[in-house]
Amino acid sequence: CGIVGYSGPQNSVGPIIEGLSRLEYRGYDSAGICLKINNELQIVKKEGKLDNLKALLNESKPFSNTGIGHTRWATHGAVTTDNAHPHGNEIFAVVHNGIIENAPSLKKDLIAEGFQFKSQTDSEVFLVLLTKFYKQTGNTLQSISKAFNLITGNSAFVITEKASDKLYAIKRSAPLVVGENKDNREAFVSSDPFALVGFAPRIYFPQDGVICEGVVTANDVTINFYELDLTPSSRYKFQANSMSMDTTTKGPYEHYMLKEIHEQPALVDKLAAFYIKNEGRKELDSLKGFKAPAWHLTACGTAWHAGLVIKNYFEQINRQRADVDIASEFRYREPILNKGEVGLFISQSGETADTLACQELCKEKGIETFSIVNTEGSTLFRNSDKNFLIHAGVEIGVASTKAFTLQALTGYLMSRAMEGTLDDPKLFSEIQLLSNRIGELCAQSDSLKEVAEKIYTKKGFIFTGRGKYFPIALEGALKLKEIAYVHAEGYAAGELKHGPIALIDENIVNIAVVGPELLEKTVSNVEEVKARRGIMVVVGPKNSPEIEHLADAYIPLDFNGLPNLSPLYVNVALQFLAYHIAKLKGTDIDKPRNLAKSVTVE
Ligand code: G6P
Repeated sequence: CGIVGYSGPQNSVGPIIEGLSRLEYRGYDSAGICLKINNELQIVKKEGKLDNLKALLNESKPFSNTGIGHTRWATHGAVTTDNAHPHGNEIFAVVHNGIIENAPSLKKDLIAEGFQFKSQTDSEVFLVLLTKFYKQTGNTLQSISKAFNLITGNSAFVITEKASDKLYAIKRSAPLVVGENKDNREAFVSSDPFALVGFAPRIYFPQDGVICEGVVTANDVTINFYELDLTPSSRYKFQANSMSMDTTTKGPYEHYMLKEIHEQPALVDKLAAFYIKNEGRKELDSLKGFKAPAWHLTACGTAWHAGLVIKNYFEQINRQRADVDIASEFRYREPILNKGEVGLFISQSGETADTLACQELCKEKGIETFSIVNTEGSTLFRNSDKNFLIHAGVEIGVASTKAFTLQALTGYLMSRAMEGTLDDPKLFSEIQLLSNRIGELCAQSDSLKEVAEKIYTKKGFIFTGRGKYFPIALEGALKLKEIAYVHAEGYAAGELKHGPIALIDENIVNIAVVGPELLEKTVSNVEEVKARRGIMVVVGPKNSPEIEHLADAYIPLDFNGLPNLSPLYVNVALQFLAYHIAKLKGTDIDKPRNLAKSVTVE
């Protein structure tokens, strides 16, 4: 979900709606805003995308100096206008990200005490608690503190009140950032610093349980921080907001996803220079000769696939044991975690609740935690003993592309750092070659569109890959199902005959990712599919007549010179394929239905 709040001399609707538009990729079942107009809290909310809310606001054209807004990705309660945020009454309005785990029992008690509820959300429980304590104390800070003390689970709340133009915020293990613009006398709050780019040059990251209060007066703006006992708090981190405005636009591209695929060559070059030649080098040098008895890699979705690629590097290059787990599985399987071992968490957002929970478990067990993460300052980043940033810039497309490539590349660089071969000139040229080859794919994207045209109407897609290409088969299938809404599965090529082959007929496409390694074995897999009238698309080495003539469509790639990085290269071809299929099907590529960019609930 996305949160944006504003207080200042301007109309808050502009910055709130602009901020929410930037965060819409995080959730878009419904959207709402609360504005203080004529000393009343007025809530406008609407089920569906932010455009529905924008249309309502365009009719009424409200003006308000203080407001809070929200885009929702439903957790508790169906997608309805009532369940949309903000939730408000005659005293407060609240927006919430996360989950109040003990909401059912609190709600039961509050109902018994005579309080009424308008929605089925857990968030409204916080509003009602605030109201109850305000009626007792007449003090907002005290009410926030008391209400927050009662709830369990990971949450971020932003609160406005009828009594003032102040903004209040508090969180536990959920992202929250407070911003200020001294020149314009403006206070901001958001779940993501990206929403505040161009608005708030100064931003603060509060720690858990710190109450933030944005106060705008006739001559100044201040942000106050309090502990739950209402003494002043210094548990927050200040940062100048260094993100640039370019990140907030699509440029010449039709979709953010396409823009992000095209950004990859330059980002690959930049990351190699950062870690091998520039400031990042000392971080990697700290790994020289490092040997863990076991690595525990944990992540979700695309980041999990990057983990599978990295496992191969750690095992094959470093001969170090590496387990990879889906985060939501790891903590419940009672993993064996011994002293000296390392938990490595991979995440674009650094806020994925399942991944954070695994990190917590590793910390409890006393093992070190490292991260491969994109978002500096995220919860994962702040809680890790060591961070390896992937420097991908903001990724807006819900279906992750550039983050995958850079996560895997960062893992590869970590592996080479442990090996002590960062100065091998072949390493730098191998990465340059990867960037060039991805650049070639970007230039030839039309040929991938032709392949997409041949297959986009088919019923199902089975992606297969062997060895280092198996994670790519999984990732190719995930990309396609995420954005084209078709059934797609990734399989180890050798497993096809042990089950999924039963599905093959003229309506099923097998997309086989084939490297120069083990080529003959794969040729026989292709024959098996053809014999059952399946449609065969092969992504494989150029000049391979033995397999080219078997395929219904062939995507020739140049694997030479990329012994370790070819999976990252091949994957970009599958990113394009998914993109073109989705475009032909007319789906919402950047904001596919039901998905959210960052899932902050377990
Ligand atoms: C969500 C997104 C996926 C993403 C996963 C992990 O489910 O839709 O695209 O791969 O979360 O996100 P993270 O931010 O931890 O990499």
